[in-house]
Amino acid sequence: MPHTEDPAAPRVAVVGATGAVGTTLLQLFTERDFRYRSLELVASARSAGSTITADGAERRVHDLATFDFGEVDLAFFSAGTSVSEQWVPVATQAGALVIDNTNAYRMDPGTPLVVPQVNADQLAERPASGVIANPNCSTIPLVRLLRPVHRRWGLARVVASTYQAASGRGLSGMAELRDTSRDSLDRPDRMPEGERFSPALAFNVVPSIDRLLDSGFTLEEQKMTQESRKILGLPHLDVTATCVRVPVLNCHSEAVWVECAEPVDRRELVRLLAGEPEVAVHGRDEPGRFPTPRTATEADLVHVGRIRVTPQNPRAFWLWLVADNLRIGAALNAVQIAERLPAYGWRLRAEGGRPLAGVGR
Ligand SMILES: NC(=O)c1ccc[n+]([C@@H]2O[C@H](COP(=O)([O-])OP(=O)(O)OC[C@H]3O[C@@H](n4cnc5c(N)ncnc54)[C@H](OP(=O)(O)O)[C@@H]3O)[C@@H](O)[C@H]2O)c1
Repeated sequence: MPHTEDPAAPRVAVVGATGAVGTTLLQLFTERDFRYRSLELVASARSAGSTITADGAERRVHDLATFDFGEVDLAFFSAGTSVSEQWVPVATQAGALVIDNTNAYRMDPGTPLVVPQVNADQLAERPASGVIANPNCSTIPLVRLLRPVHRRWGLARVVASTYQAASGRGLSGMAELRDTSRDSLDRPDRMPEGERFSPALAFNVVPSIDRLLDSGFTLEEQKMTQESRKILGLPHLDVTATCVRVPVLNCHSEAVWVECAEPVDRRELVRLLAGEPEVAVHGRDEPGRFPTPRTATEADLVHVGRIRVTPQNPRAFWLWLVADNLRIGAALNAVQIAERLPAYGWRLRAEGGRPLAGVGR
């Protein structure tokens, strides 16, 4: 049972507790026995007053607009970027440390962007902003594989194509994929209308995620470039992506081409990746084997397959990865950040609060 009277354990709030990431966080607290002294669930006025069962107890959902962060040490935010822009400063000024799952603070210079398996050293000091940012869901599994490759052979160039699931748009995205798939089967002559995905995602693939930028890239694609560079500490890394939404309910996949500074040996590469924490390599000796969103059932692992060195360029290789975007790409990464904080001797709460000057967009 995660609840404890231990005064060293944090008082926790989950903002966005009714959503896809928030409910996954609550499951993970129980699965991983993440200890807290108290747990408050927070969402919008729409679901305020409703109840959620978490950690064996029925808990009331609070309205963010009236919630008091004064009694909270650690707040997880996953309620959208604009919500974080407005309410994370309120939480940090009340003294809480925030782990933010949105895009609001990721590229802020005073905010560490952390994947614990890659750059936990960024947690050595309490950040000036009072915020630790959780990266984008496609970036997290990618950098977990790139980091050991860079250490061994040096990264020269990375090209990723993503195949992103409907759950990346939350519970309503998953519901829309189910509904439009049924409509399409019932009336194959008619293109269903989509709100979360346009055009509709059922029996379709859509190469556009998040808004289009003047550069011609989408914001999702820009996030993968900027965040990978920041996490790996390689500000000039040549890394680029095409991000595609596919009609899969959950789990993102990526086809990744990596060029290194030196020739790569496949056997050594397989051994290297298989030796990484929480990574499963499929087909170590049979390069044709691969994971898929429906068969990669161990949801807390990054699954890798189809590892192949390109014959015409032995410094380059391809791989295929599958990772649960709600867990590895969001909630699990956030919990793993929180789990590491005591090891770094942190006091979570900033006494008297701490202003969040100059942070955000
Ligand atoms: N889904 C993913 O794979 C993933 C991965 C990484 C990061 N993220 C980020 O995590 C965030 C949440 O994503 P999700 O997939 O969990 O979405 P979701 O299923 O749509 O859930 C959204 C949550 O935010 C709450 N919320 C919305 N507007 C609010 C407001 N004005 N005030 C307070 N609470 C509000 C909702 O509460 P109500 O029930 O009251 O509406 C709900 O709890 C997004 O910023 C997303 O970009 C998602």
